[in-house]
This record gives sequence, structure tokens and C-alpha cells, in this order.
Amino acid sequence: MLSDTPTLEEYLAYAADLTARGAAAFTAAADEDALETARIQFLGDKRGELLLLQRALGALPADSRRDAGRAFNDAKTRLTTTHDERQLTVRHATTRAPHLDLTMPARHRWQGAKHPVTVVIDEIVGIFRELGFTVALGPESESEWYNFGALNFPPDHPALDMHDTLYLGEGALLRTHTSPVQVRTLQRYAPPIRILAPGTAFRRDPFDASHAPAFAQIEGLAVDEGISFVDLKATLTHFAQRFFGKTRTRFRPSHFPFTEPSAEMDVECRLCGGAGCSACKGTGWMEILGSGLVHPSVLEAAGVDSERYTGWAFGMGPARIAMLRYDLPDIRLLYDSDMRFLQQVAE
Ligand code: DAH
Repeated sequence: MLSDTPTLEEYLAYAADLTARGAAAFTAAADEDALETARIQFLGDKRGELLLLQRALGALPADSRRDAGRAFNDAKTRLTTTHDERQLTVRHATTRAPHLDLTMPARHRWQGAKHPVTVVIDEIVGIFRELGFTVALGPESESEWYNFGALNFPPDHPALDMHDTLYLGEGALLRTHTSPVQVRTLQRYAPPIRILAPGTAFRRDPFDASHAPAFAQIEGLAVDEGISFVDLKATLTHFAQRFFGKTRTRFRPSHFPFTEPSAEMDVECRLCGGAGCSACKGTGWMEILGSGLVHPSVLEAAGVDSERYTGWAFGMGPARIAMLRYDLPDIRLLYDSDMRFLQQVAE
């Protein structure tokens, strides 16, 4: 306590002591009640210690009042700020905390991802892009000529049958493969040509475990002078190694109207590593694409000199490849848009 007639030194010392005690009391207050008790003791407007300090100013000699007044103001500022800051903290702790349940599970944030078939297409396109291929697109509604005639299908070919092709009327149809993009590209650009044509193809197939009526395809085409079957084998083998990792590949003779000779490419079964299992029907191999040297009639139909130029082409189904990669038993999983499945395979 201050005496009734304090000196300036006593006043200053007392003001400093009061400030320190008050600030300590505020900071130590654990909740709003404790803080209020401390506030009344130091800042109360009837008997608060700060009020008494103010009153004591009047008992000082007149020439000490300026310094003492400044000390009083400092004490007041420091105490009110400390009190107010502490008030924010304890309020937060006592009023907000009960409503903040830290054990509550976080709210799920939906985040988009590429569809697995799109992931596969992008990756395949990326590998061929490095080899100088660019992307070409064509219409999904095609003419019979682009879809079949220009691709050297004989008029009585079974693929023209109503059962396979979805006709739109007046010579138009939904393309049954992406191969017509070969013809459109050859008509439009002069060789050398190296393109990849991803897109959707349509067939009147039942929607079952291995067929979808609308499905993704990727067509590839390279046309230049002096292209041979060696280019085809080397490029597709390189692709398989890049896409699947080190794997054995093999080519089997096949037949397509638009290629001669034709070959299908197999990679070692992803599941059994070539030993033979139910997924590869005991063969140890899985077919991933059809390919061949572009038939001279196709080049000629598109207006390309088949004496001067040769080429190779391939077609594959990215959904089938996605099934191999993600080990899927049923192609419908890739076309059903079931979020539970898609989230499992999202990369
Ligand atoms: N167009 C064929 C199909 O849909 C796939 C195909 C095979 C495309 C061989 C090609 C190829 O370019 O050379 O079944």
C-alpha cells in the first residue's frame, strides 16, 4: 500500500509493482470467472487498485505529477490490454471448446480423377507422342464408304451385317472401329504420316462381361517411303515394353481386310507371367492389339500412291488394356459409372 503522502519514487515503484501483479493475475486466470475476479481487484471502478493509484496522484507534490501521471497511464494501458487479450483467450476456451469435437470424422472432400480408360488412353498417346506421332480425330457418325469400302471390306463381309453395325440410315452408320480415321488422314495430309486416333466405336453387341456396345479404341497409322514390317514390330514391341514394363511379346498371323500381312500382338500374361492360368486360358499370353501393313487398296482409295508409299497400322481397345492393368473381370465396370468402383481404381 502507498502511504498517504508518497514521494515520486514510491509512487513509481508502486505503479510498477501493481502493473506486474495485475498482469500476472490476468494471465494466470484460467477461466472467465477467475478473470472477472482479477479484473474487479485491479480495474474495478469502485475499489480497484488502479483507481486507488489514480487517486494517489492528488497526494503528490505538484512538480511530481507529470512523471507520476505518465506512470499511471502506462499502468492503465498495460493492464487493460493484458486483461482484454486474456479475455479473448479464455472466452474461446470456455465457450467454443465444448462445441469443437476433435474426435468427429473429417468431412469428405470429393476430388475428381481421370477415368481408368482415360488414364490408359493418355498414357498410350504419351508413349507414341515421344516417337513423333500426333493425335487425329474423326467423326463417330460415318459413311459406309469410310467405315468399310475404303478399308477394303468386300461387300459381303460379315461385319457389314445388321447384327454388328448400327446403321443411321441413308448410308450413314456409327463407326464400328476407328480405322476410318486412317482414310480421312491419308486424304488430308501427304506422307510422312504418323498419327494416333483415340475415339469411340459402336457395335450391336450384347452388353456382357467382355463386350460393350460403345467402347474406346485407339488407331495407329504410319505411312512413309520404305516402311516395312520391321518398323511395325519394333515400334509395337517398344510400346509394349514401355506400357507394361519388361515383358515378352509375340506376333501371330491374323487377317484384317485393310492390312496385308496382318498380325495380332500378345504380351506375356500379366497374372501368371507366362506359366498359364485361367485369365489367359492356359496359354500364358494375352492379346492386346491387331496390326498389319496397310493394304495397297486402302492407300489407293485414299489417293496415296501405293507404289511409292507403304505403311503399317494397328488398333487396340484401351478398355481391354485397362482390364489387364487393373485386373478387372468385367468390362461393364468401366462403363457403369459406379463411384464405388471408380474410386477404388482412381490414380
Ligand atoms: N479395326 C480393327 C477392329 O476394330 C482393329 C485393327 C486391326 C485396326 C488391325 C488396325 C489394324 O489398324 O491394322 O477390330
